[in-house]
Amino acid sequence: MVKICGIGAGYVGGPTMAVIALKCPEIEVTVVDISHSRIAAWNSDHLPIYEPGLEQVVQQCRNKNLFFSTDVEKHVAEADIIFVSVNTPTKSRGLGAGKAADLTYWEGAARVIAEMSKSNKIVIEKSTVPVRTAEAIERILTHNSNGVSFQILSNPEFLSEGTAIEDLLNPDRVLIGGRQTPEGLLAIQTVKDIYAHWLPEDRIITTNLWSAELAKLADNAFLAQRISSINAMSALCEATGAEVSEVSHALSKNSKLGPRFLNASVGFGGSCFQKDILNLVYISESNGLTEVANYWKQVIQMNDYQKDRFVKRVISSMFNTVSGKKIAILGFAFKKDTSDTRKTPSIDVCKGLMGDDAYLTIYDPRVSEDQIRRDLSLNSTVEWDHPIHLQPTISPSTMKQVRIVKDAYEATKDAHGICILTEWDEFKSLDYQRIFDNMQKPAFVFDGRNILNVGRLREIGFIVYSIGKPLDPWLRP
Ligand code: UDX
Ligand code: UDX
Ligand code: ADP
Repeated sequence: MVKICGIGAGYVGGPTMAVIALKCPEIEVTVVDISHSRIAAWNSDHLPIYEPGLEQVVQQCRNKNLFFSTDVEKHVAEADIIFVSVNTPTKSRGLGAGKAADLTYWEGAARVIAEMSKSNKIVIEKSTVPVRTAEAIERILTHNSNGVSFQILSNPEFLSEGTAIEDLLNPDRVLIGGRQTPEGLLAIQTVKDIYAHWLPEDRIITTNLWSAELAKLADNAFLAQRISSINAMSALCEATGAEVSEVSHALSKNSKLGPRFLNASVGFGGSCFQKDILNLVYISESNGLTEVANYWKQVIQMNDYQKDRFVKRVISSMFNTVSGKKIAILGFAFKKDTSDTRKTPSIDVCKGLMGDDAYLTIYDPRVSEDQIRRDLSLNSTVEWDHPIHLQPTISPSTMKQVRIVKDAYEATKDAHGICILTEWDEFKSLDYQRIFDNMQKPAFVFDGRNILNVGRLREIGFIVYSIGKPLDPWLRP
């Protein structure tokens, strides 16, 4: 029986390994993690992450050919194939702080693999890493090996949170990069055979190692760039009376452009986009490619501008101050159908409003109170050239101005304004008449996700701001 070990039981490793187990019943898959609480959760009825469909897959395979364990050493030693899906955050200190990837966890995993391996292994990079990381890993492995040979492959993950299981079961493509040597090509074929259990051959692309690594960074950079481009247009729409959704719709029908990732929003979030672009920026700078670095930097600058613009819009609409006013925040996750809050625009928007002394009442259907409090009280130490008022230092006394509540009606009761920051479906069908009746007047809605029916809300009596839409007479300069 082939044995696979997945190192890292997070958003990437957990779902990916579960789907491999589901589709390859003859392979034994063990997911290991240094975090005891995470592994305990994977072995319980309350999985550590929320993903539609994940629970069913885990229930079907767990303790049959899918196992979760903290015994990293044992399972690494026994495995033929090792998928490494550990976290690779942006470095917060030292050389390259604020931009370069922090590979501490990766290096830790590589050292364990080198130390424990008694037989030849295929080691696969799953987590997104800077280009040429595989080479560094290869060095750690070969310099510490006891005559064991390793093949390093890059098999980047393209799943989106919220649709992870669907993306894994039915991906547009799977990318496998490896050394173009006989041993490398054989390793590529071995991994290809795993995916061929459920995917047609033409969806599996094989490349050299560096192309696979760079394609992953490029993929996220291109997606983020589309959002920053449409967000740039949204500001222009508000200034000119154009409608961003009409502009998007027109663009989407151009088959050269395609329909996806053209929704203007309060800004993109998530663990990948900013991190991967900063990575590209850092690699470009390190190679003396200043213009290339500046080109990609602009995508993040536009994203920061969009969040900043939103905060300023809220404050200026409400008579230039939100001090002492109650603002209801609907949605904290970085997008709908996930409990993940990493780099969510809500953090910056909330902090911006708290910086102006607003009282916030926050509701998100999936994010816990603890998580929200942690996110808001954490002061990001190094955050590249982030606009300073988006990251004020939040003191414990300011945190007292934040309440986290259990539903949207409680959040909006007696509020002066509402900010929609995540596009959760349930926010579309709230009883806005009831909400209006229970709010202070004039009642404001700031729709950061363009999910609400502006005309209907104006009929009720709200003053409405929606990204990239013609401004309410109230809000016109
Ligand atoms: C363009 C638009 O495509 C069309 O929708 C619009 O109505 C008019 O402008 P055109 O300028 O005729 O059409 O040519 P296009 O095929 O878009 O190419 C424009 C330039 O981009 C060319 O120099 C082309 O060589 C270059 N290009 C295009 C690339 O370098 N790479 C590509 O992938 C596509
Ligand atoms: C992303 C990539 O899509 C995926 O291919 C990669 O493997 C990991 O990173 P994810 O971060 O899970 O996936 O979410 P995604 O759906 O890409 O959304 C990212 C952010 O962009 C969210 O905050 C979302 O709300 C925002 N977004 C997305 C927009 O603002 N407008 C859009 O049109 C699309
Ligand atoms: P991602 O979104 O990339 O999956 P997560 O933070 O959700 O990121 O998951 C990464 C996981 O990897 C965490 O649960 C972390 O504890 C685990 N991890 C990090 N380093 C190691 C290591 N050396 N061995 C085992 N697990 C590790």
